[in-house]
Amino acid sequence: MAEKSKTTFYVTTPIYYVNDVPHIGHAYTTIIADALARYHRQKGLEVFFLTGTDEHGQKIEKTAAEKGMTPKELADRVVGRFKELWKQLNISYDYFIRTTEQFHEAGVQKIFQKLLAKGDIYKGTYQGWYCISEENFLSEDVPLEPEGYKICPDCGRKATLIEEESYFFRLSAYQQPLLEFYQQNPQFVRPQTRMNEVVSFVKQGLKDLSITRTTVKWGIPVPGDPRHTIYVWFDALHNYLTGIGYDWNQELFQKFWPADVHLIGKDILRFHAIFWPAFLMAAGLPLPRTVYGHGWWLKDETKMSKSRGNVLDPYLILEKVGADALRYFLLREIPIGQDGNFSHESFVQRINSDLANDLGNLVQRTLTMVVNYFAGKIDEPGEEKEEDLRLSSQFAETKQKVIEFYDDYALNRALEEIWVYLNTINKYLADNEPWKLAKQPDQRPRLARVLYQSLCAIKGISYLLYPVMPETAGKIWQLLAQKKKPVEIKLAELKFYDFQAEEPIQRPEALFPRLDLKEFIGEMDKQKSADKKETKPEVKRMEYITHEEFKKMDLRVAKVLSAERVAGTNKLLKLQIDLGTEQRQIIAGVAEAYAPEDLIGKEFIVIANLQPAVIRGIESQGMLLAAELDGKPIIPFFDREVPPGTKVK
Ligand code: ME8
Ligand code: MG
Repeated sequence: MAEKSKTTFYVTTPIYYVNDVPHIGHAYTTIIADALARYHRQKGLEVFFLTGTDEHGQKIEKTAAEKGMTPKELADRVVGRFKELWKQLNISYDYFIRTTEQFHEAGVQKIFQKLLAKGDIYKGTYQGWYCISEENFLSEDVPLEPEGYKICPDCGRKATLIEEESYFFRLSAYQQPLLEFYQQNPQFVRPQTRMNEVVSFVKQGLKDLSITRTTVKWGIPVPGDPRHTIYVWFDALHNYLTGIGYDWNQELFQKFWPADVHLIGKDILRFHAIFWPAFLMAAGLPLPRTVYGHGWWLKDETKMSKSRGNVLDPYLILEKVGADALRYFLLREIPIGQDGNFSHESFVQRINSDLANDLGNLVQRTLTMVVNYFAGKIDEPGEEKEEDLRLSSQFAETKQKVIEFYDDYALNRALEEIWVYLNTINKYLADNEPWKLAKQPDQRPRLARVLYQSLCAIKGISYLLYPVMPETAGKIWQLLAQKKKPVEIKLAELKFYDFQAEEPIQRPEALFPRLDLKEFIGEMDKQKSADKKETKPEVKRMEYITHEEFKKMDLRVAKVLSAERVAGTNKLLKLQIDLGTEQRQIIAGVAEAYAPEDLIGKEFIVIANLQPAVIRGIESQGMLLAAELDGKPIIPFFDREVPPGTKVK
C-alpha cells in the first residue's frame, strides 16, 4: 500500500532496559532497524531512526540497589555500553532517547493529564494478590489454591490479597475500536501469525489497566498526585512520540508521526499491538503503520537472556570478525519472523562460504585481474555479447526483487537474492575464462569487456548490499576507485552500466579472512572464562539448566510419620511422610545408614513431583535427597523445625 507522496520514513527499536548490558538479541533488533534506515535513505526518503533506553521502574530500582548504586548511576553506566556497541556496529540512529530525559517525562505527564481530563484514565482501587517478599502483584493467571489463597510463583510463599489506590486506563473501552482497526489494517501487526494471536487475545476481552504504582519510587510522578508513579510501560511506550518532538517540536513531530514501523521482539508484542494503539486512540493521535514482531535468537534452544545466563557477548564476536560479518549473519541466518539458534558452527560456516568465498574471492579475483592485465585501468571494452547483456538484465531483475524484499522487511530474502546474483557473476567469470583470454593478444577487447561487465556487476551488487553491510559496500567502492559512497547515489539512479574508475585500481587485500572453527570456538571460550574470572571465582564448566527448568522441580519439606524395612532387602526403607497437605509413601535406599527408628519424626527434602515408581512391588511417590559418601547415604536435615510441605528453592 504505497502512499504516493511519502517522503519520510520513521523506524524505531524497543528502548532497552538498563538493568542488563546489551547482548546479541538487542543487537539483532537494532541491526534490522539500521538496515531499514539505510535502505530508505538510499531510496531518497528523509529517515528518522530512534533507539534508546527504558530507565524507570521496579526492575531498575532493584538492580541498582543490589549493586549499591542509584538507578540513575546504573542507567548512565549501561547507556554507555549500549552507545559503545551501537558505534561498533555502525548503527546510524538519529536520536538515542532516555526515558529519564526531562522532555520525555514532561511529554508523558502531559498525555497522562490529557487522558485523565478526558476520562480515559480514572482513579480506582487495584485489588490483587501481592507477594510481599517479591514486592510484586501476582499475574492474574496464577491459579487460586483450593484453600482460597494464591502462591507466589517466584518464591513459593503465600501471597496476600491487598487493595491499593491506582489510576486505571480504560482499556476495556477500546476492545471494539481495536478489533475494527485490526480488520481495516491487516498489516498493522506482522508477521500474519502474530496478528492472529493479537486478534484472538483481544476478542477474549480486555480489562482496564492499572497504570500507576505507589510501591515504586523510581518513576515519573503522576501530575498532581506524586504518591503515585506512572507504570513503566505507560512511560516507555510514549518514547516513540517524545523522541520525535511531541510536545517540544511540533514541526518535527508532524513530519514523522505516525511511525512506519516499530520493530520489536515477540516478547513485547501485546504491549505494542494492544496497549499502544489504545493509548494513541485515547490521545487522538494517528496509529503507527506496522508493528513488526521478530523472533528470538536462542542459544541451546532457549531464549537468550541475561537472567538465563546464556547470552552471547557481541563484543567478542565483533572483535574477531568485524561489524559487517555479524550484521550479515544475524540478518541472513533466520527469516525475520522466526526463532533461530545461534551456533558457532553455522556462524563460521557462513562467514567462510558466503563472505570469504562468494563475495570476498570474487572481488579479489576480479580486481587482481584488472591490475595484472591492465595495470588497474581497463581498455575500451569490446562489443557486448549475449551473455554480457544477460549479466546486466539479470542485475535489473535482482535489483527489482531486492527492492521488493527490502520494502517488505524480508531482509534475509533480499540477501538470498544478492547471493544468487553473486553466484551469477562467479559463473559468468568461470564461463568466460578471462585468464585464458589474457593469453591471447587479439582478445584484449573481449578481455576488457568481460572484466568491465564484472566490475559493473560488483559495483551494483555492493550497492544493494549497503543497508546490511555498509562498511563492506564502502570498502568495495573504494577498491573500485569510486569517488562517491554508496549512500550518495539514490536507488532510482542506480544503473548497471555506470562504472568509471577515478584512478587506477590497486591490488586488493582480502575482504574477509577465513575463520578456523576450532580456533574460533577456542577463542570465544577463552575469553568467556577470562570474563568469569574477573567477576567471580572460576566455576567448573557444566551444562546449565535454566531457572525455569529448576522451578519445575517441586522440592518440599517432608516429615517422617512411620518407617519400616522393605522385606528381603538391606537397603530399602518404606516411609510414610507428611507433606503438609497430604500423606505419601516413599521407598528410600537409606537402610544401610539409618535404622527406621532413627528417621521417625525427622524432616528432610523430597522431590514431590517425581514420576511415581514401583520398587520391589511397592509404589514410591517421591524421592528424598541425600549425599552419597563411600556408597552410603547421608541425609541433610534442617537445623530447626519447618512446617511439613514448605517449599524448598
Ligand atoms: O522489553 N532474540 O526491554 P528489553 C531476539 N524496555 N531479540 C531479543 C532477544 C533475543 N534473545 N532478547 C532481547 C524491554 N531482544 C522494554 C521495551 S519498548 C517501549 C520497551 C530484543 O531490554 C527484542 O527486540 O527486555 C526484545 O523485544 C527486546 O530486545 C527487549 O529488550
Ligand atoms: Mg526483556
